[in-house]
Amino acid sequence: MSYAVETRDLTRVFAGKKHRFRRKRTADEADEHLGPVTALDGVSIQIREGELFGMLGPNGAGKTTLIKILATLLLPTSGQAFVAGHDVAKDPFPIRQRINMVSGGETSGYGLLTARENVWMFSQFYGVPSRVSKARIDELMHVFGLWDKRDAKVRMLSTGQRQKMNMIRGFVTDPDILFLDEPTLGLDVNAARIIREYVLNWVRSQKGKTVLLTTHYMAEADQMCDRIAIIDKGKILACDTPEALKRMIRTETTFRLEVDAIRDTASFSSMQGVKNFSLTNDIGTNRSHLTFILEDEGPVAEILSLITSQGKKVHSLQKSEPTLEDVFISMVGRGFE
Ligand SMILES: Nc1ncnc2c1ncn2[C@@H]1O[C@H](COP(=O)(O)OP(=O)(O)OP(=O)(O)O)[C@@H](O)[C@H]1O
Ligand SMILES: [Mg+2]
Repeated sequence: MSYAVETRDLTRVFAGKKHRFRRKRTADEADEHLGPVTALDGVSIQIREGELFGMLGPNGAGKTTLIKILATLLLPTSGQAFVAGHDVAKDPFPIRQRINMVSGGETSGYGLLTARENVWMFSQFYGVPSRVSKARIDELMHVFGLWDKRDAKVRMLSTGQRQKMNMIRGFVTDPDILFLDEPTLGLDVNAARIIREYVLNWVRSQKGKTVLLTTHYMAEADQMCDRIAIIDKGKILACDTPEALKRMIRTETTFRLEVDAIRDTASFSSMQGVKNFSLTNDIGTNRSHLTFILEDEGPVAEILSLITSQGKKVHSLQKSEPTLEDVFISMVGRGFE
């Protein structure tokens, strides 16, 4: 079977940086900032034609690096990647005709052209007939709520409006394979919802369209994707449907607690029955949010007494259905933030 995207043992190493500062560094700093970084470490995935596939992982996991390699913007260090059956390293040209890529964080565009002119110009690079392109642009501008700004110069657009323009740029060429790198990053709730719905409908209603989407929003991955690969430090930890991923930890129990800000969490790790846990501190409220993945409900009393013995108040305690983030916490012992 041929896949829309297939990688085999794909690895990308970024060379270390040169000393930029004269100041003497500690050994730790030298390790962290100067050594080579393995952004992708033996990644093997297969994405079927027609799939909406998600890459879920925290900052620095390697998501953008993977997308850049698949979009033929970056070469692998070793291993292979095939897009629409072509090797990204050996045969990039036929790939480029069939893909498009949009990155949520990018603020590209020619400031002096209008939103409409920008997208139109881009479509001309891809050889989309002008009439077809103009009709698509008008339709997409209505859908994404950018119609009012169609004749505004790009430098006058807000960040979110530019992002909507870039999304339109992604669809205007009607690619077979679309790479979306954090498409809803920083968008307001309504705009994010419209984009999710459009992407879903675009894949579902046409044959042979494939989307690879990266995100660190669990709910987005959960709602949209047929399958999800969880990636951390360049490695794929798990790859399955959202339901199957959550089922993996269904036999475990998820407890969420909101408590006065705590620092000492070392004793949680050594408690019997605590599989893993994560801690996030909310500076605004000066409280900590703890998520525990437990083998059963046994350790709850011990957890509570440990918190209260530190003189901290427990504000809420809740048992809940596992989310994709809990799957991640269960595997790596920390959350996404
Ligand atoms: N051009 C580069 N030079 C050196 N290191 C890089 C380069 N690009 C990425 N990296 C490193 O590779 C790792 C993976 O980065 P990448 O951008 O792929 O992560 P990501 O999963 O997209 O993260 P985010 O959620 O923050 O966008 C990081 O440690 C990053 O510092
Ligand atoms: Mg990224």
